[in-house]
Amino acid sequence: MITVESLTRRYGAFTAVDDVSFVCQPGRVTGFLGPNGAGKTTTMRVMVGLTQPTSGRVTIGGHRYADIPNPGRHVGVLLDASAQHAGRTGREILTIGAETMGLPKSRVDEMLRMVSLDDREAKRRLKNYSLGMKQRLGIAHALLGDPSVLILDEPANGLDPAGIRWMRGLLKDYADRGGTVLLSSHLLHEVEQIADEMILIGRGRIVASGTKEQLLAGTETKAAHVTALDNDLLAKALQAKGVTVAAAGTGLRAECAPVEVGRVAAEQAIVLTDLRSAGGGLEDLFLSLTEDTQREAPAQTPSAPATAEGTAR
Ligand SMILES: Nc1ncnc2c1ncn2[C@@H]1O[C@H](COP(=O)(O)OP(=O)(O)OP(=O)(O)O)[C@@H](O)[C@H]1O
Ligand SMILES: [Mg+2]
Repeated sequence: MITVESLTRRYGAFTAVDDVSFVCQPGRVTGFLGPNGAGKTTTMRVMVGLTQPTSGRVTIGGHRYADIPNPGRHVGVLLDASAQHAGRTGREILTIGAETMGLPKSRVDEMLRMVSLDDREAKRRLKNYSLGMKQRLGIAHALLGDPSVLILDEPANGLDPAGIRWMRGLLKDYADRGGTVLLSSHLLHEVEQIADEMILIGRGRIVASGTKEQLLAGTETKAAHVTALDNDLLAKALQAKGVTVAAAGTGLRAECAPVEVGRVAAEQAIVLTDLRSAGGGLEDLFLSLTEDTQREAPAQTPSAPATAEGTAR
């Protein structure tokens, strides 16, 4: 388990991480989510002793990382997949890791197989690796010592869709076997699909945390997108209940909670083929919570280019 207690890190007058506290539990994947510059990497660097905190502390399994003997056997870390000697081959990097941790050489082949780096690729130097290959090697390195805790900064960076799916499965399995996983991302969809718990950070401060369900609980939207086999019939039924309805795409937009639409459809025995909340759910929540920390404030978005007639549509 990872415990972050009142962690603050300042650089001069600038506060990169501001009184951050959270816990990552064994058997759970915890997603650490926030816009660029929010303080994710800084927090993770403090976790593994690469950056000193200004105040507060982080413990892993009750110990400071620096106090853990042979830490690679307990904590797998991937912060920057390029932060390896560029002239070494993938196999050499893993072999050095295995020797440092006192692991048998066979572990290197096992890990290369697990991350699908073939023999030829393993013999290539890191400087000639593609971004995704570096990332795979980094994941292999993190898992080398069969640790019980994983700390991964943007692990999906550079992976292709199949690679992202593979990593998702890998981390879920790892947590199912009792491992603790903390992974960061600035991409909500990436985290949403894999994390059991989410911690949202903006400008160095935690702005929300909890399970996906808990985070969404307070954001019940009051509009639904719905498609029925007979949209006209559904529109009439909804209007009869006083709900405002408008055509939208292949279906309707109803100004009420999705559950109300479902209820009306059930009462009238209308077959629905699609029903969902019209709000962006987590994405809206994420954007609103980190609004003042986003670089792209809505007002600053460049407007659409004017048309030939000089009028914006
Ligand atoms: N050594 C340093 N000196 C000065 N400022 C720093 C230093 N390290 C980080 N910062 C600042 O701290 C803030 C947080 O940076 P951090 O790398 O933790 O963000 P992040 O959440 O990982 O962002 P990203 O999604 O872009 O990776 C940034 O404004 C960054 O410029
Ligand atoms: Mg970062």
